[in-house]
Amino acid sequence: MKLNKNQPIGVFDSGIGGLTVANAISKLLPNEQIIYFGDTAHLPYGDKSVRAIKQYSYMIADFLIEKKCKAIVIACNTASSIAYNFLKELYKNEVHVIDVIQPVITGVCQDSSIKKIAIIGTQGTINSGVYEKRFKDQNPDLEIFSLATPLLVPMIEAGNFNDEMSHSILKSYLDRKEFKEADAIILGCTHYPLIKKDILNVLDRAVKVFDNTDFAPREVDLELRKLYLLSEEKAANDEFYVSDYTDTFEKTTRIFYGEKIHLELCNIWKTN
Ligand code: DGL
Repeated sequence: MKLNKNQPIGVFDSGIGGLTVANAISKLLPNEQIIYFGDTAHLPYGDKSVRAIKQYSYMIADFLIEKKCKAIVIACNTASSIAYNFLKELYKNEVHVIDVIQPVITGVCQDSSIKKIAIIGTQGTINSGVYEKRFKDQNPDLEIFSLATPLLVPMIEAGNFNDEMSHSILKSYLDRKEFKEADAIILGCTHYPLIKKDILNVLDRAVKVFDNTDFAPREVDLELRKLYLLSEEKAANDEFYVSDYTDTFEKTTRIFYGEKIHLELCNIWKTN
């Protein structure tokens, strides 16, 4: 594979939640140009079939390769759970594929005080069992509990966080012994960094809470550094594409990216 450091990094997600990851990468690596694709036409991925998620991920990766990306970061946990191995194998001679799950597993396993872990995510992520399997592969003695929390994405998208409604929804999910006893809680979804504070409030105790923005950007840095592919200056402006456009999507970018950004509609779905 012949890649050069001035090529962009592609980041994709089922929607605009993955902007949390894109933003964290930009903050750590300000010289990198980011090309973002949010599949808002198919959002949410959390309750879609394995077949559909693989197909969407494949078409988006193809688009990012056409855009000459040197690496593709799967910001979406559901797509990382289901399509990472498939994309990595398929594009092994073309581009570096990085998921958001392995960096969390590696990061958390470096902390030997963590023995009990509780994970929350979409139905797709939790049903895939990927977090549990990879944690167990790394350390079979870990106690893992995972719970699908499907109400959280629509709740956050509706703008409900740090309020009474989010508090009571979170309470109904987290009021379980496994969350009370966990040494670490993993927020296995692009949207959940926005409710980190809420979660700590509900748990009302000191516990380590990790999300993808904590480790994925460092993994991108390490991987590109190792390959001498880190850019030394920003080659072009970031670009943000979506497969369906509404004003609300664009307004919501402020929540996930920290500032409002312009989204460009781009239809990559080839129909017969
Ligand atoms: N991006 C998804 C994830 O991280 C959450 C939203 C969805 O279900 O598509 O799993």
